[in-house]
Amino acid sequence: MIVTIDGPAGAGKSTVTRKLAQELGFQCLDTGAMYRAVTWQAVQNKVDFDDETALQLIAQNLILEFDSERVVVSGIDVSEAIRTPEVTRQVSQVADAVSVRSHLVALQRRIASTGDFVCEGRDQGTVAFPDAFCKVFLTASANSRAQRRSEQLLAAGHFVDFDQIVREQKTRDVQDQSREIGRLQKAIDAVEVNTDQMTIDEVVAKLAKLVRDRLNEKQNS
Ligand code: DC
Repeated sequence: MIVTIDGPAGAGKSTVTRKLAQELGFQCLDTGAMYRAVTWQAVQNKVDFDDETALQLIAQNLILEFDSERVVVSGIDVSEAIRTPEVTRQVSQVADAVSVRSHLVALQRRIASTGDFVCEGRDQGTVAFPDAFCKVFLTASANSRAQRRSEQLLAAGHFVDFDQIVREQKTRDVQDQSREIGRLQKAIDAVEVNTDQMTIDEVVAKLAKLVRDRLNEKQNS
C-alpha cells in the first residue's frame, strides 16, 4: 500500500513522513534524497549541470543505498553532505532533467513495490503513484517554512542568513512549480493539510487517522 506526501520544501514532509511510516508500520521513501544524491555525485564528478546526458549517466550509474536514517552512495555515507547549501542550490537543475526524473521515478516504483511505503516528494501523488491509496499535500506559510529550514541548517552547523533562506526558498518554489514534468502540484484527489498551527505530532495523528479511516471504509465496502 502506498501513501504519498507531496508539498513544498519546509512544510515538514520529512519528519511527518518518518513518523507516519513508524506509526503505520510502513517503510518510508524520501525521494528528494535521491535527487540530492545524484546532485552530490555530479558535484564530486565536476559535471556541467547544463549537460543533461552527463546527469543522466550519473543517475543511471549511482550506487545508492538508503533507509529512513541514512543515504549511502558508493559506500560513502552522504546523509549530511546531500543537505549542504551547495547541493541545495544545484539540485533543482538535476530535478529539471527529464531523463533523470524518469530513471528515478522507475526506481521509486521498484522500491515501493516491495512493501507498504509512505513516499514523500513533489510528484509522488501525481506522477510516481497516481493510484496511491491515500494522497496528502502538505503546505505551510512561506515564513514558517523558512523558519524550519533555518533551524535545520543551524542544527547541521550551517549558519545562513534568514533573508537569504527566504529568497532561495522563493526561487526554489518557482523552479519546483514550473518544471515541465513532475512539477510541484497537488493531485486532484490529495487531501491538503496546512501545518502552520499544528505540531508535528498533531499532523502525524491526523494523517494516521485519515489512512485508517480509509482502510476501514475499504474493508466495510
Ligand atoms: O525535498 P527536498 O528539498 O529534499 O528535494 C530536493 C529537490 O528535489 C527539490 O528541488 C525538489 C526536487 N524533488 C523533485 O523534483 N521531485 C521529488 N519527487 C522530490 C524532490
